[in-house]
Amino acid sequence: MNGTLTLGIETSCDETAAAVVRTDPAGPARACRVLSNVVASQHELHAEYAGVVPEIASRAHVEAILPVVRSALRDAGVRLDQLDAIAVGHRPGLVGSLLVGVSAAKGLAWSLGLPLIGVDHVHAHLYAGLLVHDDDRAQDDSSQERPASPPRPTDAPDLFPALGLAVSGGHTSLYVMRSPIELHRVGATIDDALGEAFDKAATMLGLEQPGGPNVDRLAASEGANDRAVKLPIARLSRESLDMSFSGLKTALLYAVRGTPGRGTHGPQRYQRRTEDLTDTQRRDLAACFQKAAVDAVLLKLERALDRFEQLASEPCRSVLTGGGVTANSLLRARLTALCAARNLPLVLPPMALCVDNAAMIAGLGHQLLKAGRVADLTLSPVPTTAC
Ligand code: KG4
Ligand code: ZN
Repeated sequence: MNGTLTLGIETSCDETAAAVVRTDPAGPARACRVLSNVVASQHELHAEYAGVVPEIASRAHVEAILPVVRSALRDAGVRLDQLDAIAVGHRPGLVGSLLVGVSAAKGLAWSLGLPLIGVDHVHAHLYAGLLVHDDDRAQDDSSQERPASPPRPTDAPDLFPALGLAVSGGHTSLYVMRSPIELHRVGATIDDALGEAFDKAATMLGLEQPGGPNVDRLAASEGANDRAVKLPIARLSRESLDMSFSGLKTALLYAVRGTPGRGTHGPQRYQRRTEDLTDTQRRDLAACFQKAAVDAVLLKLERALDRFEQLASEPCRSVLTGGGVTANSLLRARLTALCAARNLPLVLPPMALCVDNAAMIAGLGHQLLKAGRVADLTLSPVPTTAC
């Protein structure tokens, strides 16, 4: 088989994932083609708790890791002895979860005599949209409510320097990117990540987890009024590229349950219960929350674009996005409109590659391998992102 074959492994939170990518000799300089992309979700295991239970997550990774790696190899039609490198997401995440993927990757790399590459999960999200993926169109077209991905910019070198926006359940950050592997953070949330805020909003509205897609679906339903209540957008200081979602979350809580202190329900004496919401109120509040959250991100993204030349000493050539919340229909539509208005190419991952996956780990791992950034067997899980 032509091209370099990289196996990627991802176990940072509650998804056990493995994927094989191949460099695409006929494609653009940084392109890797996704040959397989297997994700085993643990959502059902954590459903009865308020979030991911770390101990349950690590045990489930131990059970799933080998079958998932085998499926990824089988789907790709690749044997272990054909692989050229092993990449693993080793930061950030739950240490016990990361440890399972890192241990599996080290074992494979050592026994096969292959280079081992440690990949930052957040940086990998920003690479997801650059992967070549045969199913992109099919994935996007299957969801008629969502705007399809914009045409993929094909000449990757011309996309840099880029402004990167990573929006996931654990991180919300803006980056100046010189390349997929040279990036520095210029702004980040000072409290909740955007996905986390969506998940908590879902709980407040009485929706099931994972909440982001449920808030999205309800907000996009017919008749939803995103002006029913006014929710705050944190601007922070005039120059700041940081974001904050805790005030928005509290405002939603008060809109749902009333200001605490005067009512009778619960220890904090709220005036109402979540169950008291009518369907119309629930739908409108989902739309108001989603609009305020997306407005808040777009405000900082625009600010970063206005200041890009000052930050990077060069004009911005594209906007690269990634992370679970890039699956959000309103965010996709607003990013598409903004970049069209500014005449900037936009890289949005296809729906299947927005949320956690190992193809992005394998792809960015290959870029790191090309740059000689190879790890050794002392590679360890790290709970925080590199930058
Ligand atoms: O990137 P990801 O799979 O995991 C992390 O690295 O955290 O992101 C998961 C997050 C969750 O908070 C989930 O609710 C959110 O992405 N998410 C969405 C949507 N789809 C997933 N948030 C809003 N709208 C969506 N359609
Ligand atoms: Zn993620």
